[in-house]
Amino acid sequence: MKGRSGAVSGMLESSRRRDVLRAAAAGAGALWLPSSARSAPAAGSPDIAIRLTAAPGVASIWPGAKTRVLRYTATVPKGRTDAVRASTGYLGPTLDLRQGERVRIEFANGLDEPTIVHWHGMLVPAVADGHPMDAVRPGGAYRYEFTVRNPGGTYLYHPHPDGRTGGQVYAGLAGLLIVRDAAERAAGLPPLERELCLAIQDRRVDGDRELQYKRSMMDDMTGVLGDTPVINGTADARFTVSRATWRLRFANVSNARIYRLAWSDGRPLHVISAGSGLFSRVEGVQTRPYVVLAPFQRIEILEDFAMREPGAEVSLVSQAFEDPESMSGRTDTGTMGGTMGGTMGGGITGHGAMNHGAMGGAAQGSGMTGNAQGEAMTLARFVIARGSPVGSAPPLLPEPEPPLRMGSTRRHTLVGFEGMQGTLNGRRFEMTAVAADERLPLGEGTEWTFEGDTNGHAMPHPMHIHGVRFRIIERSGRAPADLREGLVDTGYQDTFLIFPGERVRVAMAPTEAGMFMYHCHNLEHEDGGMMRNCWFGPGAPAAG
Ligand code: C2O
Ligand code: CU
Ligand code: CU
Repeated sequence: MKGRSGAVSGMLESSRRRDVLRAAAAGAGALWLPSSARSAPAAGSPDIAIRLTAAPGVASIWPGAKTRVLRYTATVPKGRTDAVRASTGYLGPTLDLRQGERVRIEFANGLDEPTIVHWHGMLVPAVADGHPMDAVRPGGAYRYEFTVRNPGGTYLYHPHPDGRTGGQVYAGLAGLLIVRDAAERAAGLPPLERELCLAIQDRRVDGDRELQYKRSMMDDMTGVLGDTPVINGTADARFTVSRATWRLRFANVSNARIYRLAWSDGRPLHVISAGSGLFSRVEGVQTRPYVVLAPFQRIEILEDFAMREPGAEVSLVSQAFEDPESMSGRTDTGTMGGTMGGTMGGGITGHGAMNHGAMGGAAQGSGMTGNAQGEAMTLARFVIARGSPVGSAPPLLPEPEPPLRMGSTRRHTLVGFEGMQGTLNGRRFEMTAVAADERLPLGEGTEWTFEGDTNGHAMPHPMHIHGVRFRIIERSGRAPADLREGLVDTGYQDTFLIFPGERVRVAMAPTEAGMFMYHCHNLEHEDGGMMRNCWFGPGAPAAG
């Protein structure tokens, strides 16, 4: 039995020891959590009820081949049936929600290991956030209830069990969550039939077309990188588009790969959202030659395919860039960290060589290694349909949101990677621990500065905070020259990439009380403990 065992059981082995610790932590958690808090409040009758299941399945990722996967499926027992849209390949169905809707989601765990679902980017009550302590056993269920408060945008849902997220996402568990609102409707964006979502992933496969989630020491450090782009759960993605303006939503749902997105014919990208709401008319459409999209970031662009010839083909590509993981050796020679970074960086710089060289010969054939970070890839082809072009007016972007009312709270987090382990202010994940500097007030703005450590094994990290939308108010320093122009720090977002030596200041005003989390969204880093709780509002559990 290959495939599923390859995809899943390696992960089971490696998290066995952590299970013991987890059980202990869960026991401690029960002491301070009122038992009623962990079951969602019965908030009357929802507008939409969704039944979501995670279970093993078989998907057709390559034409004519069957691949064992884990996948989400959903039904709508109550409310708009178009709130759930079937997806292709193994990708979970797209949830299509409207601001203000009251949603109930009954989740059933059909896996043979614990899991829980997290609504990435969504402002939901803590009890509905999918914290690892809420993970349910095989055969178990969890009920989520929330009102959709987010602005229109492109969000995601994915598993969030402690130590198992990377393997489960890799095996197929992830889906898009779209929110629509009035501001969007007023913006005069392309109609639904000219809207396309691309969930961008990379996978390694073996000769039998089974997914390979192999965990070597290097995978834990770099994160799992694949050699095959998979778009919306299928390989060799191809779309036919009319000669008109389209709204394209790009979501990076890869475990660790950073994309430098661009069009093969060199046309720039016109970005209207970084995931959580449209840019304001003050910010305007952001035009970039390429856009850097880190794991679990999303962007939305408007693309006028009328600018291309009928019958023409253009590809969405990821352009080559220098693997930023090898930055450390260059930047800090002389310090102890620099020496270490240099040594490690050397190893990683050799990564490409290892793929294709001595080790690569065997490894490549069995699909054990992926392409190195920064290697060029063709992601999806777009064929321009014949027919006369349809003109369209530029979008009417919304008025700016009222500015955050900033309080006096300041937070600082050093984003580090020492030895084999990612850390946040030197700490690793503990199930229920929240330190004093991880508490934020509710309803007023906190300025939170993240700093990319240059010591140890320095590399970029996609940092994510649950339960809030934030603005990036300053980015200082050291993004590599071949990625800098593609960083979109406009508007509200929930995930940003930080490079070694960089300082990124974000501002946020939490609205939901209780236990949330922040972590590196490189899934192997997250599973390795580069994750911490944060607490919004009064009454946090004892510091740990
Ligand atoms: Cu996308 Cu903690 O999650
Ligand atoms: Cu999240
Ligand atoms: Cu990381």
